[in-house]
Amino acid sequence: MSDAAIRLSAVSKAYGAGPQASQALANLDLEVRRGAFVSLMGPSGSGKTTLLNLIAGLDMPDTGEVVVEGVRLDGLADHELADLRLEKIGFIFQAFNLIPALTVEENVGLFLEFAGRSKADVRRMTAVCLAASGATPASCRAASNNASPSHARSSAVPRSSSRTNRRGISTRTRDR
Ligand SMILES: Nc1ncnc2c1ncn2[C@@H]1O[C@H](COP(=O)(O)OP(=O)(O)O)[C@@H](O)[C@H]1O
Ligand SMILES: [Mg+2]
Repeated sequence: MSDAAIRLSAVSKAYGAGPQASQALANLDLEVRRGAFVSLMGPSGSGKTTLLNLIAGLDMPDTGEVVVEGVRLDGLADHELADLRLEKIGFIFQAFNLIPALTVEENVGLFLEFAGRSKADVRRMTAVCLAASGATPASCRAASNNASPSHARSSAVPRSSSRTNRRGISTRTRDR
C-alpha cells in the first residue's frame, strides 16, 4: 500500500451554477503521508471546510478523486462512508459538539461503542486517550451550559482521538 494516508487528484468543487457559482476548489492535488501532522491555513472562504468535508466523505467533488488509506471515496455507499468516518476520521469542531448529558468519559467512549468495541476495551482505550490529553476529571459532564471552552476542548480532543482501528490511532483531521 502507498505511504499516503490521504490523496486528492485534480479535485474541483463548486457550489451553485452559472454566474452565481462559487468555485471553492479548483484542480487541487494533495498528498498527506501517514503520520504527518499538517496545518491547513487560509483566509475565510478559501476552501478549508470544503476540503475537509471531501476528505471525510461528507461531500463529493465535482471532478477528481479523493482516496483515504487506499480507498476511493466516490466508490463507497453511504453506510461505507459512515464506517470510514467512524473508524478513521476525527474532527474537532470549532463548536465542540459534545453531548451535554454525557460525562467526558462517555463522550470519548461513544464512538468506540458504535464501532462495536467491548465494554472493557472502551474503558481501557478511553482512559488512554484521556490520560494522553490531560483531560480531567472524566466523571464531569462534558458540556454543561456553563462549561468553559478549555473544559469542552479537553473533552473534544480525546473524543477525536478515540477513532481507532486495530492498528492503533488512525488519521486525524483537526479543526475546521
Ligand atoms: N453550502 C455552500 N453553498 C454555497 N457556497 C458555499 C457553500 N459552502 C461554501 N461555499 C463557498 O465556497 C467557498 C469556500 O468556502 P469554505 O470551504 O467554507 O471556506 P473556508 O472554510 O476556508 O472558510 C466560499 O466562497 C464559500 O462562500
Ligand atoms: Mg471553514
